[in-house]
Amino acid sequence: MRMVDLIEKKRNGLELAKDEIEFIIEGYTNGNIPDYQMSALAMAIYFNDMTEEERANFTKAMVDSGDKIDLSAIEGIKVDKHSTGGVGDTTTLVLAPLVAAVGVPVAKMSGRGLGHTGGTIDKLEAVPGFHVEIDKDEFIELVNKNKIAVIGQSGNLTPADKKLYGLRDVTATVNSIPLIASSIMSKKIAAGADAIVLDVKTGAGAFMTEVEKAEELARAMVKIGKNVGRNTMAVISDMSQPLGFAIGNALEVKEAVDTLRGEGPEDLEELCLTLGSFMVMLAKKADTKEEARQMLLDVMKNGEAIDTFKTFLRAQGGDETVIDDLSKLPTAKHEIPFIAEKDGYVSEIKANEVGIAAMLLGAGRATKESEIDLAVGIVLHKKVGDEVESGETIATLHSNQETVDEVLKKLDGAYTISSVKVAAPPLVYKEIM
Ligand code: URA
Ligand code: CA
Repeated sequence: MRMVDLIEKKRNGLELAKDEIEFIIEGYTNGNIPDYQMSALAMAIYFNDMTEEERANFTKAMVDSGDKIDLSAIEGIKVDKHSTGGVGDTTTLVLAPLVAAVGVPVAKMSGRGLGHTGGTIDKLEAVPGFHVEIDKDEFIELVNKNKIAVIGQSGNLTPADKKLYGLRDVTATVNSIPLIASSIMSKKIAAGADAIVLDVKTGAGAFMTEVEKAEELARAMVKIGKNVGRNTMAVISDMSQPLGFAIGNALEVKEAVDTLRGEGPEDLEELCLTLGSFMVMLAKKADTKEEARQMLLDVMKNGEAIDTFKTFLRAQGGDETVIDDLSKLPTAKHEIPFIAEKDGYVSEIKANEVGIAAMLLGAGRATKESEIDLAVGIVLHKKVGDEVESGETIATLHSNQETVDEVLKKLDGAYTISSVKVAAPPLVYKEIM
């Protein structure tokens, strides 16, 4: 086989066979196929798309390009959740203990990464003593015992995707549905998921700003999942404004605790119940969405959700007394109000701008080397559709810096106050099963 012939085939709109796709991914991973040929192929895929079969084969080949996590020693169906990313997205912190409390095994491998706030591990490390440096055997043992454990990323998962994603970034081929879908799905599958729930975000703060595009991506991923034997469901949810109220690491832990007790922000609770119901169904712990939802509501009410969170924290060195006394979490020195300058209704909160504001306070990493301040961040008091009065506090900055002019300016640019009443945007646009 010659790469040049396969590029030509894709350029002419023909379908690549399974062995051809394997040749490409293997060759690219081991360096036999150079970047310039892979760039040409990525561009041909960008313009000519891939068939369902090509997409499934492309995903499988990327899974096979590196290590695969074997979770077979864990009892039950391992369901993983993936979010395409947003601002102040506290869902993982809530969902993991919530579904574990109804018996869904949560074997989470998580990273740190760049962003407006830290990753799931950074957030959990706001709990004194908590750590993810456990070995694989202990990880499996903990999931079997408590139904939940989190371990740091290790191993060489999907090196083909890593290399290709970097290449796409500099060849204007990131924004391709078949390439994004196979990239995301390959990582979840390599990490050991038997079934997958996808939270595809849409709106100004999301990767896919339009609902139609988000749906196309979601359907592509669900199809790949089913075609490679991993049952997959997806939710298209709103990221035109931040989810919940808190953006910041310790602040989000507090928000997660509130939500596990059924006292959290309405939108965050609703999204967690929707995604959680899908996880419960995929794990075959309930037959219908309604039944699954009721199980989750029950453990929120009877305290089992919060108890599962405590057990999980304790098992990995964390001080679980923090949960009943949230003042033990890292706390910022200053609380600075962001105040409305006129009467009206919140008509827009640009999620991305709020995210950048949180990052300016030190809640996230701009580069891999940046240090995170776990205590800082932003708590919103007003969301889209809410009425505000001049002089009212719209949001509170939790800061360890005294001067926050730049952050306040960012927030001012993020919020739009309109004189006419505006409806809140829908939270869930679509469910794809
Ligand atoms: N996120 C991914 O993991 N891969 C893509 O291709 C795009 C977004
Ligand atoms: Ca939040």
